[in-house]
Amino acid sequence: MTGPDVRAAVGSLGIRNPLLLASGILGESSGSLIRVYKSGAGGVVTKSIGIDPRAGYKNPTVFEFDSGMLNAMGLPNPGIGHFGEVVARTKAAGVLTIASVFGANEEQFSSLAARMQEYGADAVELNLSCPHVEGYGAEIGSTPEMVSSIVRSVRSSVRIPVWAKMTPNVADVAALAKSAEDAGADAIVAINTVKGMAISARLRMPVLSNSVGGLSGKAVKYVGLRSVYEICGRCTIPVVGVGGIYSGEDVAEYIMAGASAVQVGTAVSEGGPGVFSRIADELSRFMENEGFSSIGEMIGIARR
Ligand SMILES: Cc1cc2nc3c(=O)[nH]c(=O)nc-3n(C[C@H](O)[C@H](O)[C@H](O)COP(=O)(O)O)c2cc1C
Repeated sequence: MTGPDVRAAVGSLGIRNPLLLASGILGESSGSLIRVYKSGAGGVVTKSIGIDPRAGYKNPTVFEFDSGMLNAMGLPNPGIGHFGEVVARTKAAGVLTIASVFGANEEQFSSLAARMQEYGADAVELNLSCPHVEGYGAEIGSTPEMVSSIVRSVRSSVRIPVWAKMTPNVADVAALAKSAEDAGADAIVAINTVKGMAISARLRMPVLSNSVGGLSGKAVKYVGLRSVYEICGRCTIPVVGVGGIYSGEDVAEYIMAGASAVQVGTAVSEGGPGVFSRIADELSRFMENEGFSSIGEMIGIARR
């Protein structure tokens, strides 16, 4: 007997399984991106890349605890000029590659997306949602007007699919996603990190050098599920779920909430790329035990 069919699709993009590497984790070199794919991911999302190189914040940029982590990296990245060979090498190895970009305005987002298309990316993901860098990400991605004008501008600048990644740090994430859909986005990605902070009582000061950071890992799964559920109630384009996925059953929960595929971040940073084959095996076994023969049969079945 053959096992369940775990192939997934986000719009026109077919994926060998629904598990993608989330942006910002092992996403800066072709070597690590290829390794993640060989370890069983269906595809990879690169680290968010901007126009110019950025050093990011000084340490500490990460605070780890039992149920996840807080980070405020400050979008360190080599800049678009140095990233062509990373995308090209990753693509040459046969890896489905989604390029994440961040900018300060429509022009920057559009020019970054066009460069990523030139380099051979299969899709571009717009980081409209990084919660801890002034002038970027969630600062500009938290109003429907801003999301709409950036997505519209990028959509008219590239042929490849445009994915809009949402911040959960707003009152109505579904309204934000709807504005991306109306502006021509091909898929919604939800969620980026949840704004948070840690204080050291002994040192009487914030732990992160930036004070405020983004919460990820187990602690955010239920915010991610709720966001995907609400977005799927308002949008018709595919949704990619992300936040606190560690097991095959976590993946099934996101798919049942309406996601077509998922991304895994903190679990990879904690457990290494090997988590992909484990999660894929668990998903396949779950589907078999529960009588699902395809991913499509599970999408949205928890919705009411
Ligand atoms: C250390 C770290 C760096 C991240 N960098 C990025 C980034 O560059 N761009 C982005 O869109 N999201 C970034 N994220 C957010 C993740 O892609 C993901 O949306 C979030 O962590 C929730 O998923 P998780 O709980 O599986 O980690 C980062 C997350 C972490 C933990």
